[in-house]
Amino acid sequence: MKVPKTSQQEEIIQKTAAYVQEQLKDAESGHDWWHILRVWNNCKLILQTEEADEFVCELTALLHDIADSKFYGGDETIGPRVAGEFLKSLEVEHEVIEHVQQIILNMSFKASLGEVSFHSKELEVVQDADRLDAIGAIGIARAFNYGGYKNREIYNPDVPFLENQSKEAYKNTTAPTINHFYEKLLLLKDKMNTVSAKHIAAGRHAFMEDFLQQFYGEWRGEQ
Ligand code: ADP
Ligand code: NI
Repeated sequence: MKVPKTSQQEEIIQKTAAYVQEQLKDAESGHDWWHILRVWNNCKLILQTEEADEFVCELTALLHDIADSKFYGGDETIGPRVAGEFLKSLEVEHEVIEHVQQIILNMSFKASLGEVSFHSKELEVVQDADRLDAIGAIGIARAFNYGGYKNREIYNPDVPFLENQSKEAYKNTTAPTINHFYEKLLLLKDKMNTVSAKHIAAGRHAFMEDFLQQFYGEWRGEQ
């Protein structure tokens, strides 16, 4: 059901945006404020054509990376906890806080590789919004940025792509960045939950395919 936000809720969203921007001012570039802003925008784009609770979706889009478990020894409960404490300070109702926390806990790519115990339309929307930021032109930029940060090769024709990776293999890969396209990025369009995100993903996916064709052409020294 479409639940438009009230003006009071819009005020809470703006306060949350300001808080997140401040909290993430020193964050690494893969999950900085600009990532959050793009996910929030993707979320609003999806909400134009999907029926969901706008307040819950937008709050979660803003708070979904507030404390990345990677930096807290893999503790997946820290993000939901920080988000929950902040929303409580704004006197957001308990039911909404719980929903936001459940989504954050369950929406990561890693969680989607394992058992997912919670489902809601709002989770679908926010997860799609986050995944859309990993594909297309932005996705390409983020992948090479990450690979550079890890000092990976951009491409090495001798290193095969892994298929059906386990959670551990995914975490431990040191493969060239091009491999990441086949191991994750090109798979994301089929993982979109909502029809709206599937449409958006199709265009961004095609852009990545074009990029790869151009890349291999140039690699071989073709025009
Ligand atoms: P998420 O926040 O979606 O769970 P990650 O933290 O795994 O994703 O990655 C953040 C960004 O870095 C994404 O755009 C992702 O595609 C990119 N990235 C992650 N792992 C790799 C890798 N092995 N090679 C290149 N890019 C990567
Ligand atoms: Ni994210």
